[in-house]
Amino acid sequence: MAPFLILISTLLITFLVLQAASSSYNTSSSSSLQQFLHCLANHHSSSGLKNTIYTANNNSFLTILHTLTYNHRFSAPTAPKPLAIVAARNESHVQGTILCAKEHGIQIRIRSGGHDCEGLSYVSDVPFIILDMFPFDSVLVDIANQTAWVQSGATLGALYYKIAKHTNLHAFPAGVCPNVGAGGHFSGGGYGNLMRKHGLSVDNIVDAKLVDVNGRIHDRKSMGEDLFWAIRGGGGASFGVILSWKIRLVPVTPRVTVFRVKRDIEKGATDVVYKWQMISAKLHEDVFIRAMFDVVNRTNNSNKTTVEVTFIGMFLGQTEGLMSLLNQSFPELGLVQSDCNEMPWINSTLYWYNYPTGTPIQTLVNAPKGPEQYYFKTMSDYVKKPIPKESLESIWDVMIKIERVRMEWNPYGGKMHEIPASETPFPHRSGNLFMIEYLTSWGEYGVNAVYLNISRFFYEYMAPYVSHAPREAFLNYRDVNIGANYPSNETRVVTAQSYGRKYFGGNLERLVYVKSKVDPDNFFRYEQSIPPLLR
Ligand SMILES: Cc1cc2nc3c(=O)[nH]c(=O)nc-3n(C[C@H](O)[C@H](O)[C@H](O)COP(=O)(O)OP(=O)(O)OC[C@H]3O[C@@H](n4cnc5c(N)ncnc54)[C@H](O)[C@@H]3O)c2cc1C
Ligand SMILES: *[C@@H]1O[C@H](CO)[C@@H](O)[C@H](O)[C@H]1NC(C)=O
Ligand SMILES: *[C@@H]1O[C@H](CO)[C@@H](O)[C@H](O)[C@H]1NC(C)=O
Ligand SMILES: *[C@@H]1O[C@H](CO)[C@@H](O)[C@H](O)[C@H]1NC(C)=O
Ligand SMILES: *[C@@H]1O[C@H](CO)[C@@H](O)[C@H](O)[C@H]1NC(C)=O
Ligand SMILES: *[C@@H]1O[C@H](CO)[C@@H](O)[C@H](O)[C@H]1NC(C)=O
Ligand SMILES: *[C@@H]1O[C@H](CO)[C@@H](O)[C@H](O)[C@H]1NC(C)=O
Ligand SMILES: *[C@@H]1O[C@H](CO)[C@@H](O)[C@H](O)[C@H]1NC(C)=O
Ligand SMILES: *[C@@H]1O[C@H](CO)[C@@H](O)[C@H](O)[C@H]1NC(C)=O
Ligand SMILES: *[C@@H]1O[C@H](CO)[C@@H](O)[C@H](O)[C@H]1NC(C)=O
Ligand SMILES: *[C@@H]1O[C@H](CO)[C@@H](O)[C@H](O)[C@H]1NC(C)=O
Ligand SMILES: *[C@@H]1O[C@H](CO)[C@@H](O)[C@H](O)[C@H]1NC(C)=O
Repeated sequence: MAPFLILISTLLITFLVLQAASSSYNTSSSSSLQQFLHCLANHHSSSGLKNTIYTANNNSFLTILHTLTYNHRFSAPTAPKPLAIVAARNESHVQGTILCAKEHGIQIRIRSGGHDCEGLSYVSDVPFIILDMFPFDSVLVDIANQTAWVQSGATLGALYYKIAKHTNLHAFPAGVCPNVGAGGHFSGGGYGNLMRKHGLSVDNIVDAKLVDVNGRIHDRKSMGEDLFWAIRGGGGASFGVILSWKIRLVPVTPRVTVFRVKRDIEKGATDVVYKWQMISAKLHEDVFIRAMFDVVNRTNNSNKTTVEVTFIGMFLGQTEGLMSLLNQSFPELGLVQSDCNEMPWINSTLYWYNYPTGTPIQTLVNAPKGPEQYYFKTMSDYVKKPIPKESLESIWDVMIKIERVRMEWNPYGGKMHEIPASETPFPHRSGNLFMIEYLTSWGEYGVNAVYLNISRFFYEYMAPYVSHAPREAFLNYRDVNIGANYPSNETRVVTAQSYGRKYFGGNLERLVYVKSKVDPDNFFRYEQSIPPLLR
């Protein structure tokens, strides 16, 4: 029996999720900041600290803090601010930050791309320092070995671009949004439109460099297989600071075929969606078809509010191959040759992100950030049996009524069903038809509660159609409410047993076991981190 199984009964650690506190800290935290800075300068910065440390006294403090803020729910003036930001430019800065923060009892938050859906990489309710990894952004492609070393601050777009500079015959399976960071994305799983053929990002990682709680730098060999397993899907920030990942590139055809078609629910789209549920996880693994659901106002003379269904697809091959495949197994979609666009894989990454044809591929490297006032809440679900047609229609009715929720349905199957659930901490493998991403977004300040309520209402509404006991969730679409009582309760107690089970299923015990070995004093912690062994 593996030792971690013995720990099941000790999983009763609880975390208090407090309401956001005030943005200023007391003298005790300001003196611990001084001690921290002193420690960093004196002991751990052989390479110098130039352009590295930002405190509230630096003019660019807020700029640095919010350049990588994607969810403006967490950039309000009242949001808790860090005591300092350490923009690590050298491994020694990472080591020093860990050791000095530990010595002076300050929490750290580790940030790479800043896309955490709940802002947990840059907001905390206790005094904290941000360890910012954005300067660690190199990508070294070794095309002969079909691998690359990717530093955690590199974005997915930069990774894709650098692969394409070497070859149009290779790719990497990861997310669609070019600004997402490799640090958080890979350590939380990492899925995209290559997932049915090649699995997740974590299924294609072969080595990593990490700084542990004692400031030591490890590679796969010296960290050992348990820790290397844990950081591939268990969330990196419970275990250490990931400096870089070694990834295995995957082969792609010189040209892939992509399409995007819209279907009206007034003209039978519900039937198409129903068939999609039956077929999308069973199609050949070269095909990936995502279904997206948006509430829109028709602009023609009806002005009707309705749900617009968009199918966006990618096929690892050419148009004829896709047409003959879909003609046989998904004729209901009604795809025609002229819907199809052939292009190199790198161009398809722009297409999927909705860039107009002709957008230069360099755009991937520094993709525009999007609106300044963009607030959102994301949630996820797993669907194991098709939702009946009548229920689909009721779902559309509710969406139209509440207006602010959109969904993306991502098919599983293929490689996702072949990989055992315990291979990585990410447990959602065979048995799933598709994953739902819910997104509620808004652009007005001061109305968060209204939209958070709407998003939670819809999540509760969907309960009968999705996985239960546990109601599974995807770590990268982090939701601080899962596992908590609802309606929201200011002193609700959230246990690792509840959120951990939803994110990791039966892998939770092994994650706790690894945590107990590598960080028994729980230095690397946050609202939804993995707890160590209770002693
Ligand atoms: C617009 C948008 C699109 C997205 N699209 C996809 C998608 O297509 N597929 C998908 O799988 N997910 C997607 N996500 C979710 C995304 O993958 C996660 O939010 C991911 O954690 C972001 O990584 P990051 O480095 O950008 O975020 P950060 O906010 O920097 O970090 C996220 C988490 O990882 C930790 N972390 C970051 N860097 C390190 C490190 N170096 N060492 C240890 N821990 C670290 C942080 O502390 C935090 O807990 C999307 C999110 C957004 C907002
Ligand atoms: C000041 O902050 C420290 C660190 O969080 C805390 O332990 C202490 O209780 C606070 N003191 C006061 C007076 O609030
Ligand atoms: C970090 O600093 C050390 C000591 O100055 C130096 O040897 C090393 O090359 C630096 N590393 C990086 C990645 O810059
Ligand atoms: C922040 O301000 C301090 C004090 O003026 C200065 O020493 C440091 O270089 C500044 N940091 C950055 C990154 O400019
Ligand atoms: C592959 O990588 C190894 C070790 O990094 C290197 O020694 C070898 O030359 C590489 N192989 C090829 C074919 O480039
Ligand atoms: C549709 O139009 C109504 C009335 O103008 C507006 O209130 C609503 O926000 C619009 N909905 C969408 C999804 O655009
Ligand atoms: C409005 O446009 C939609 C989508 O193109 C179409 O389904 C609908 O029939 C149109 N309604 C009217 C009244 O023209
Ligand atoms: C539809 O909406 C437009 C813009 O709000 C408005 O000008 C038009 O009168 C509306 N048409 C109908 C039939 O309501
Ligand atoms: C698929 O069906 C369409 C429409 O019926 C037809 O035009 C096309 O030739 C078919 N393609 C293949 C490869 O069978
Ligand atoms: C792909 O992108 C490149 C570089 O931006 C561009 O030159 C080429 O025309 C694009 N190809 C297609 C088929 O879109
Ligand atoms: C929450 O949203 C639901 C659904 O829109 C609504 O019925 C309810 O009144 C809302 N509650 C609050 C407190 O806003
Ligand atoms: C809030 O949650 C705590 C812990 O679960 C519970 O004891 C308390 O009764 C809840 N309060 C309300 C108002 O629901």
